[in-house]
Order: sequence, then C-alpha cells, then structure tokens
Amino acid sequence: MRSVSAKAPGKCILFGEHSVVYGNPAIAMAINLYSTCTVEEIKTEKIEIILDNFEQKYEFSNYRDLIINFYENRPQFGYCIEKLHDNFNINFENTKISIFSSLIKGAGLGSSASTAVAFVAAINEYYQLRMEKNQISALTLEMEKKIHGTPSGIDNTTCTFGKMIYFKKGNYKVIDFPVDFKILITYTNMEHNTKRAIEKIGLYKKQYPKLCKEIFNSIKKITKDAKKNLKTGNLQKIGLLMNQNQELLTKLGLSNQIISDIISISLQDGALGNKLTGAGLGGCVISLGYQDTLLKISKSLSAKGFKNFIVGLDYEGVKIGE
Ligand code: PMV
Repeated sequence: MRSVSAKAPGKCILFGEHSVVYGNPAIAMAINLYSTCTVEEIKTEKIEIILDNFEQKYEFSNYRDLIINFYENRPQFGYCIEKLHDNFNINFENTKISIFSSLIKGAGLGSSASTAVAFVAAINEYYQLRMEKNQISALTLEMEKKIHGTPSGIDNTTCTFGKMIYFKKGNYKVIDFPVDFKILITYTNMEHNTKRAIEKIGLYKKQYPKLCKEIFNSIKKITKDAKKNLKTGNLQKIGLLMNQNQELLTKLGLSNQIISDIISISLQDGALGNKLTGAGLGGCVISLGYQDTLLKISKSLSAKGFKNFIVGLDYEGVKIGE
C-alpha cells in the first residue's frame, strides 16, 4: 500500500503585518515547527480524512459525497479538492488523508497556511501531479482566501518556500541572515481571528484614511530599515525596530493588555525587542534577544502561565517526507 507524507513549516511575521495587505512590504520567517499531511492508499473505495488537531475523522463513500459534506465545514480543503478534481481528474477514492500540525491554531504562526501547503504537496506527490512550488503556493493562497478573506499571500509563500523573506504582494526576496537567528514565541492564550482583524483594519482605513496612511508609511519605513539590519545581523537595531513596529500596531488597535504584559516581562528580562506577530488581538508575541536572555524570559513567562518556545529558521520550505 502506497503512502506519501509532506511537511511544511509554520511562519512568523517579523515586520509589516496588516500593512502588507495594502501592498506594502513585510518580513516573515519560516519556523522550525511543522504541519504534516500523509496520504495513504486504503483497500476500501472510501475517502477518509483525519484532522488530528480538531480530533475530527470524516469518512466519505466517494468524491461527490465528500464535496457535498465537507465543503461547508472546511471550505479551504473542499475548494482545493474540487480544484484538483477538476484540473487533474482525480477522485481521491481509496485514500486516507491525515493532517496534523504542531502549530497552535489561530495564533499567527501560519497553522492554516502550513497545513494547506502540506496537504497540497502530499496530494501532488501521491498522484504525481508535477505541480511546482509556485503552483502549490498559488493554490494555497486561494484556500486561505476561503477562510481569511483578503490575505496578502505572505503566509502561503513563507510556508511553501521557507527561509526568511522580504515580501510584497506578488513577489518576494530571500534575506540571508548572517548569524543563527532565534526568537522566542509566546502564546497569549487567546486565539485570534485573522479575518476579523483584517476587516477591522479595513474599516479603520475607511474611517481614518490619512492617519492610517501615515501609520502604514511608518511601518513600511521600519520594514525597509529592518531588511538592511537583518542582512548585517544588527540585533540591537532590529530589536528597536520591532518595538517601533509594535507601537504602530498598538495605534491601529491590534494590541491588548495581555500582549503588553508579556512585552513588559520580556523587557524586564532584557529583550532587545518585542512585538505581536500576525493578525494581533491575541495570538503570539515574538521577542528578540541573545540566547541566555531568551532562556531567562522563557522561564519568567512560563512561571506566569504563558506557553512559549524558542524557534529557529526553516531553510527548506515544504518537502516530501515526515
Ligand atoms: O495568519 P496571521 O494571523 O499570522 O495573519 C497574517 C498577517 C496579516 O498581515 C494580518 C494578513 C495577511 O494576509 O498578510
């Protein structure tokens, strides 16, 4: 019985979230926490789909049954399955598809993009569809639109290609960072809703166009400056820029008390910089510092009940194998 697995990294946005939705640049890194999708051949003609993180197991008698019943619950996967069926004439029968992610969901770590990328890559390999990475990324962007409304494409790009990237809608460049880049990620214990956060900023932009433009321009400047300093590995300066970006995200109404509390603890312990990452209004905070400092902050935050982990860069993006 054949079996194929694909594994895609999560991501975190270092600079420029939200502003990136309006065509400005952002910087993201692929992180060494992964989602995996396994496609296995089974004896029965059924289609089994297992979403491990949701503790959900679906069983469909055929492709039609799948589309009718799955689309509503999981529109991103329903859309993708329909597209692949229409484009490649595959009916998914005799397969068991299992998806698992070690990323916290709704936390700004790209769990939806990462699982979508792993899913498409595993199907691509199993059926020998010969899709290139840019096609995988493009299809997962369409999947993301089904749940996030108007995403910029930064999540699917980072989870597909890996590395640290400077992204502007439609294209990206790799940033080569000269030293081992590690950050501390702390979960606020609050799931966020990316679609709602994007809509909130859309409304804010309509209400206060001038102010919003000023804020986005400042974020753009910070992001460009960060790119230069990332290339030279100037951690002190990168930390300062993170703090400035955080102030602007706070002005946009994307921060909250828990995020501020985490940042205060981290600064007390000597972080070089902190900011929320991703959509905001919950999710995660990222902290920059030297290794010893990150370990110290990690201890303090754990003692306060905040789950946290130190992550490094993923260099490969999506790949076949577990
Ligand atoms: O997927 P999240 O929650 O990390 O948010 C993505 C970042 C946004 O800039 C808010 C949206 C986008 O698609 O760029």
